Amino acid sequence: MCGIVGVLGRHEAAPLLVSALGRLEYRGYDSAGIATLDEGRLGRRRAVGKLVNLSDLLVHEPLRGKSGIGHTRWATHGAATEGNAHPHATPRVAVVHNGIIENFRALRDWLGERGYSFASETDTETVALLCDHYLGEGLSPREAAQQVLARLEGAYALCFLFEGEEDLIIAARKGSPLAVGHGTGEMFVGSDAIALGDLTDRITYLEEGDLAVLTRAGAEIWDEGGAPVQRAVRTIRLDAQRIDKAGHRHFMAKEIAEQPVVLAEALSRYLRPDGSLTLPEPGLDFANLDRLVLIACGTGHYACHVAKYWFEQLAGLPVDIDVASEFRYREPPVPARSAALFLSQSGETADTLAALRYCKGKADRLVAVVNVTESSIARESDLVLPIHAGVEIGVASTKAFTCQLMVLACLALEAARARGRLTGSEDARLVAALRALPGLVHQALDIEPEAERIGRKLAEARDILFLGRGRMYPLALEGALKLKEISYIHAEAYASGELKHGPIALIDDSVPVIVLAPHDELFDKSVSNMQEVMARGGRVLLVSDRKGAEEAGTGVWEELAMPQVDPVWAPLLYAIPAQLLAYHTAVAKGTDVDQPRNLAKSVTVE
Ligand code: F6R
Repeated sequence: MCGIVGVLGRHEAAPLLVSALGRLEYRGYDSAGIATLDEGRLGRRRAVGKLVNLSDLLVHEPLRGKSGIGHTRWATHGAATEGNAHPHATPRVAVVHNGIIENFRALRDWLGERGYSFASETDTETVALLCDHYLGEGLSPREAAQQVLARLEGAYALCFLFEGEEDLIIAARKGSPLAVGHGTGEMFVGSDAIALGDLTDRITYLEEGDLAVLTRAGAEIWDEGGAPVQRAVRTIRLDAQRIDKAGHRHFMAKEIAEQPVVLAEALSRYLRPDGSLTLPEPGLDFANLDRLVLIACGTGHYACHVAKYWFEQLAGLPVDIDVASEFRYREPPVPARSAALFLSQSGETADTLAALRYCKGKADRLVAVVNVTESSIARESDLVLPIHAGVEIGVASTKAFTCQLMVLACLALEAARARGRLTGSEDARLVAALRALPGLVHQALDIEPEAERIGRKLAEARDILFLGRGRMYPLALEGALKLKEISYIHAEAYASGELKHGPIALIDDSVPVIVLAPHDELFDKSVSNMQEVMARGGRVLLVSDRKGAEEAGTGVWEELAMPQVDPVWAPLLYAIPAQLLAYHTAVAKGTDVDQPRNLAKSVTVE
């Protein structure tokens, strides 16, 4: 959360900073700001709200200078005001920060006792003032930065820009990612390689505890212990199309539509034409595992939840699932002969990373299932399983979710084989059904006009319930999450069988109830639960296939007809109606679909 960037350029820095911040806006959009050095003096512009407000401000009040730093904010300490926007600065130093300084109150007190007063409510301002203090004592910029870092507790990626130092940015990383970009006679730094995409493709990822001194001649890096280190410079393949909406109104719409293609791609990376499965080295020895631990946050957690059904039913392999924020502090025993899988689109989610670190030395193998293969979670794992979704920009995850499911489906199949749980014909059926999925997803996208029509009706509701049984229960949870995060309509999901244990009290004719029920082994049970809702005046939207629609009987409020799918893999297909309903409900409500309020794409604080 929060995106930071720094430029030591050959041209004016402000436009480069703003354009890099545009590629980081997915990390937060509460406010944005930049600081540059103009003839050695620090200048700063900040604006509340989206980056466009900062761009407008810069038209009227330009900032000159070829060296600068910038920030796009997801508020942690203090409201989204101009005063709380980064950079935080004194005449001697300007600072941008991603993370949380946990001991900032103690530092504020310490600074207060030394005569400093504060212009913001942020934790970051203490970093700027502390640095100012050490510079005032006569320390060099690097010495001052080192003194500051030694006093910080918490997580940070930081960039410092110093008065009078046109050829210097100091960057430091602990707990939040940071990438250094190498140009020709120019140097850059940013929260990720995407930020630097238009500037360079030569990237050095800083490691935990690193401090980098950037000049136009290059970067010198010191590790956590203060020893000089060399970090590799990698050439990153940057896809120029990645932040293009390709004619769609929103990134989310584009990303929903891309799913047939990216799912086929993900599948082809794991399932060979001869039906065998291939995992990157060092692979996973499922035959000798007693347990899997699957950890993630948000949408990724629901993918874990689906996978639990797959691993347990297909492979007889017990699975524990948890949200990372709970797992990391619960001190759960991690049994021997277990593998721990961490699902994360961004690969930077702070809680998931902490859960991974907790499992180090406990689980036999740490496995990252990530979209961003250069991410912290990937780099700290023993085995990286890329989901091949391509860059996902919409804050509400869509294609990353289904690609996570695709990779997990392949893993579950591999586990079932390794543990001798499948007959030849079952195996062949599951493989054929998996291969059919990208095509079925393509067909399922045809429901879009219907989803749009129904979305307009759902947009009038105050509360919406989702129901699902078995493998569809996590899909109900995902449907409710998607709907609430982008339409701001209160939505809850329940396992259909749980309804009568309490939530049925919520049912009346103002509450649409979305029932996800393919014609599977639990279909009759789902129909009974649906009848219970309708008997109480509830308006049921049934999402099912042709067989399901035929057998469901009459009385439903609305129906969405899905293609027939092998019930085992149905969650992959039923993600589509969940996404399309959320999307069109949000569009009907006129909310900011790609950048919903209060959210950010990459959650690097806990
Ligand atoms: C919801 C959504 C979030 C993320 C969660 C974890 O649509 O996108 O719930 O799934 O913040 O993010 P990653 O997968 O990057 O760890």
